[in-house]
Order: sequence, then C-alpha cells, then structure tokens
Amino acid sequence: MAAAAATKVPATMRAVQYDACGGGAEGLKHVEVPVPSAKKNELLLKLEAASINPVDWKIQKGMLRPFLPRKLPFIPVTDVAGVVVDVGPGVNGFQAGDEVVAMLNSFYGGGLAEYAVASESLTVKRPPEVSAAEGAGLPIAAGTALQALRSIGAKFDGTGQPLNVLITAASGGVGFYAVQLAKLAGLHVTATCGARNVELVKSLGANEVLDYRTPEGASLQSPSGKKYDGVVHCTVGISWSTFEPVLAPTGRVIDITPNFAAILKSGLHKVTFAKKRLVPLLLSPNKADLEFLVGLLKDHKMKTLIDSRFPLSEASKAWQKSIEGHATGKIIVEMEG
Ligand SMILES: NC(=O)c1ccc[n+]([C@@H]2O[C@H](COP(=O)([O-])OP(=O)(O)OC[C@H]3O[C@@H](n4cnc5c(N)ncnc54)[C@H](OP(=O)(O)O)[C@@H]3O)[C@@H](O)[C@H]2O)c1
Repeated sequence: MAAAAATKVPATMRAVQYDACGGGAEGLKHVEVPVPSAKKNELLLKLEAASINPVDWKIQKGMLRPFLPRKLPFIPVTDVAGVVVDVGPGVNGFQAGDEVVAMLNSFYGGGLAEYAVASESLTVKRPPEVSAAEGAGLPIAAGTALQALRSIGAKFDGTGQPLNVLITAASGGVGFYAVQLAKLAGLHVTATCGARNVELVKSLGANEVLDYRTPEGASLQSPSGKKYDGVVHCTVGISWSTFEPVLAPTGRVIDITPNFAAILKSGLHKVTFAKKRLVPLLLSPNKADLEFLVGLLKDHKMKTLIDSRFPLSEASKAWQKSIEGHATGKIIVEMEG
C-alpha cells in the first residue's frame, strides 16, 4: 500500500455474490470476504451506494458469456459512490478521505460490497452537492444517454442544431437522464413511457410524451408531426418498420439494446450507405464523461431520479426490482453502517 489509510480498514467485509449463472435474486448470497487491496493505479473505496443496471442481472443470467462474468463466485455491480480509504502505487489525483463516484471494472464487478477497488482512470471526485446515491446512478445509465445523444449530433456547448429526438423508455435509468441531457443540448424531445410516468417525464423537460401502451404511443409518431433526426432507443420489441416512417431523411436510431437482427440490420444499412440508419451503441466508459455528468449534478442542471433505495442486506429485493423492468429512475443499494 502506497499511502497510509485514513480510515482503519477491516480484514473482511460484507458482500453479496453469486456462485453460478442463473438463479435471479434467489441466486444472490450474503458472504463475508476479504477486503480487496488497491494495486497500481487503483483506489480502495469504502462504498456508500451502488446502483443496479439491467446489465448486472443480464450477466448473472449468462447473456454475456463467455466474456462475463470472468470468474465465479462474482460480486456484481459496477456503478458506485463512496470514500477513498487507500490508494495504490502510481495514484496521484486522489487521497484517503476523497468522496468519489466510480465505475468499477466490468470484468471484476465488486459493487455489492462494503469495499471495492476502482481504477483511478474511471473515478472522479464527488462534490458535497452530489449525494452518494445520486452519484452512483450515473456511470452506465447517464454515460450511455450522453454517448447516444452525441452520436445523434447533440452538442453541450451551445453550438448544436435544435434536432428533434425521440427517447424510448424515458422513465427508465437511461431514459430519464437522456431526456434531461437532450434538453440541455437544446433538442426537441418526444418521449415514450407508461401512463403513470407521463407527467414526470414532462417535468424533466420532454416536449411531447407518448404512453407506449396506446396505439399512438406504439406508432411512435410525434403529436406535432415532427420527424426524428435521432432516436435514443432504450427498450426492446420495436421493429425497424415502426421507426423508418417517423425518421427524418437522415435519421438515426441509436439502439442501446440491439439483438442479433438489429446488428444485422445495422450492418446492412452501413454497406448499402442507407440514409436512415440503425446504429447499435455500447457504452465506452471514460473519465471525461463521468466528470461532465457529476458537474451537471453539482450545478443542479440535471438530477438523478431515484426509484427506490435498499440496504445491502436487502440487495436481492433491489435485484428483483431491476429484473422486473418497471423502475422509474435508478435502483440504489446503500451500504449502511
Ligand atoms: N448499450 C449499452 O451500453 C447499455 C447501457 C445501459 C443500458 N443498456 C440497456 O438499455 C435498456 C434500458 O436500461 P435502463 O437502465 O434504462 O432500464 P430500466 O431502468 O430497467 O427501464 C425500466 C423502464 O422502462 C420502461 N419501459 C419498459 N418497456 C417500455 C416500452 N416498450 N416503452 C416505453 N417504456 C418502457 C418502464 O416503464 P413501465 O414501468 O411503465 O413499463 C420502466 O420505467 C436495458 O436493456 C439495458 O440493458 C444498454
């Protein structure tokens, strides 16, 4: 250990892990395991909060095999906030006591635990204005929303065009950040969500909101007749034949949940130089984006909508809630005590 820890770090910690793929919430086990140690360019964090993303339980389901999980047993979850308690060799920008937001390495996870090791390259300082729960919501969900909007042409420095965008599943973890970010970029936003969240999504800034369970919502047509320059597509089960007629001549559908057919379709669009395109997007985590997003929370330009909070001892309830797919905002696990 390169630096003395300001906080006494115990030898073991409480964590939640699974031993095998499959099993859902019932497959999660509460264990006492050794506290990891920070290696080169790493920080040891005492975690305060973690947020669950659908990818966490998709990994448990085995949907990303053979890449993830890298090995079992596996402590899931990557999006965390906490306090630095130790730093490994080579760390220059942080010291014990710093409050931070981090995205842990997807291959090793580690977020459902009292302590976790984060890379300095995916950790940012968390100002006092940003609570641990709000910060923990950001890395995957807001990061993906930001990158999807950028790939449509959104700019956040005031130089962008007033594009028309559609955001599907605007009440979900990615969608509610996407609505707010799109408005910050000066875009006209049409959004879809369930009836119970229409007013909420409007309050986030959406100009038009469609209930996805109605025929109008299913058609994705903008009530004001606008054609979309881009779609941030955050749900499943909508075919290209539904998107195609509502797109502007060079409209792009940024699909963050692409299935095999969507990947084939996007390949076809590419090789045929199609004007309207389906574009799959996988988050490319980076520190600059995370710093930008934390800054927006600090300046109260964006907020984290919290669906629910669970203590670590009830992590399986949080897990189940995410699997059910009806969260409004982020599901947060807090490491009490
Ligand atoms: N490519 C990437 O890098 C990347 C990154 C992040 C997420 N993702 C993926 O993106 C998807 C969304 O993630 P998330 O965190 O936003 O999920 P989430 O928080 O679980 O989304 C739940 C929300 O989606 C709404 N919803 C469900 N079906 C809908 C539909 N057909 N139309 C409109 N709204 C609908 C639900 O509303 P109701 O309760 O009213 O049904 C609920 O509010 C997941 O599949 C996730 O794995 C991919």
